[in-house]
Amino acid sequence: KHIRMGNLPVDTLRPLDPDTFAADSSAVVDFLAGYYRDVDKYPVRAADLEPGRLRKLLPDAAPEWGEPMERILDDVRRDVLPGLTHWQSPTFFAYFPMNASAAGFAGEMLSVGLNVVPFVWVASPAATELEGVVVDWMARLVGLPDRFVFSGGGGGVLQGSTCEAVVCTLAAARDRALRGIGHEGIVRLVVYASDQTHATFQKGARLVGIPPANFRVIRTTAASGYALTGNAVRAAVEDDEARGLVPLYLCATMGSTGLGAVDPVRELGEVARRHGMWLHVDAAYAGSAAICPEYQGYLDDAELADSVSMNPHKWFLTNMDCCCLWVASPATLTAALSTYPEYLKNVDGPAGGAKAPPAGVDYKDWQISLSRRFRAMKLWFVLRRYGASGMRAYIRRHVAMAEWFERAVSADERFEVVAPRRFSLVCFRLRPPSTDQASDDGGVNRELVAAVNASGRAFMTPFVVDGKFVIRLAVGGAMTEMRHVRDAWELLQRTAEQLLGQR
Ligand SMILES: *Cc1c(COP(=O)(O)O)cnc(C)c1O
Ligand SMILES: *[C@@H]1O[C@H](CO)[C@@H](O)[C@H](O)[C@H]1NC(C)=O
Repeated sequence: KHIRMGNLPVDTLRPLDPDTFAADSSAVVDFLAGYYRDVDKYPVRAADLEPGRLRKLLPDAAPEWGEPMERILDDVRRDVLPGLTHWQSPTFFAYFPMNASAAGFAGEMLSVGLNVVPFVWVASPAATELEGVVVDWMARLVGLPDRFVFSGGGGGVLQGSTCEAVVCTLAAARDRALRGIGHEGIVRLVVYASDQTHATFQKGARLVGIPPANFRVIRTTAASGYALTGNAVRAAVEDDEARGLVPLYLCATMGSTGLGAVDPVRELGEVARRHGMWLHVDAAYAGSAAICPEYQGYLDDAELADSVSMNPHKWFLTNMDCCCLWVASPATLTAALSTYPEYLKNVDGPAGGAKAPPAGVDYKDWQISLSRRFRAMKLWFVLRRYGASGMRAYIRRHVAMAEWFERAVSADERFEVVAPRRFSLVCFRLRPPSTDQASDDGGVNRELVAAVNASGRAFMTPFVVDGKFVIRLAVGGAMTEMRHVRDAWELLQRTAEQLLGQR
């Protein structure tokens, strides 16, 4: 039984009618404002974890007739929200934050509404040029050397994720190396990472054809704060060279996902240079902190790097998705990624990215896909609305909360901080009771994080290092305030007391 409730008769469907557009869109904005007002009242982790729950609630087939906006939004509220984990909740401390903000949303709304596709310069010149400007602005803000801005011969692009950025730079490095040794040489290419490097790097290496046996994972230890050392990399590289292999690419991390560890970029750059390797710096999360002078040292060390990436969608108030990738040699990147079918020739504009960049850039040649989103708008809105000082204060506020939490944990002898805190991530655990010592299944700490998650009052994720099961508290939500961190600590203490009491 189909009820024709729609206010959109099929024979005169006008999907971009400006009046309907305004009404429907403001209904969504009102819905979201209400959501943000109440988001701290939802259980932060999805309350309803029953698999298949939504499929049972929804009809088997798409509706025959269009339905009114209110009815769809009611279903979102009733059926969808209870199955969501609320990433914008102030008590979300899991993974890393994925920031939303009014400015990020406004910019995203604009770019989605304009819906232009800047794959070649002429396809939307101002969109390409705005992207060139904002990636230069960001490069300056995080303290990157001149070689990564357009006027210094480098340049940046906005992609959807670090994973894509890593694949693109791996392809660039691969093709550069294969030009020297011939395509059959691909089986001799070796890539290097640490045991703390994000898994995305291994996936990227697989995607560009690096033999799995040539993926080196260098062990890190507590002594270096779980950072790579130049010596360890040099030893691995020399070993491979002695066997006739070709060092290709080294991935350094500023702010590793598990522990927030920072690899020494300058030292690694020297090793990479000496052995002809591409050095990439993955600053997905902590790159945002580099806008503060106290953290800038990390990225101005990138003088010897070939590429750097960071995700403003994590800790820089820019709604998903937005990853800045900077390269020192755009020509090496585009040599691996460019295509020139006749239908895309830039007849009215500078061809092939040859002229005064960023004006002459065809961003399709800086990424995997052809079509692309106009991401520059939202990052531009964030930078203009909040300003560099506003953003620095935002970052420092989170770091201060993490510092407070770190001190609280250290002051409670039942707990310990497991790795040095550098930014807004604190890795800690309950000192395991002696009965737990032998087991590395997490014991009481696994129970602790599970109980906290199940309470719906905070959400954290665990990590394992040196056989220790640790709990990560990643501060960085746009709505997170000191009181939320304090509440989380009280919840952890109370829960720990109960668990320890039961043993
Ligand atoms: C989050 C994260 C990634 C993955 O980022 P995507 O944009 O999701 O691909 C990579 N590296 C580090 C250090 C991260 O924290
Ligand atoms: C909560 O804690 C557990 C640890 O038991 C962890 O494995 C998981 O990732 C967290 N999330 C959920 C969905 O419970």
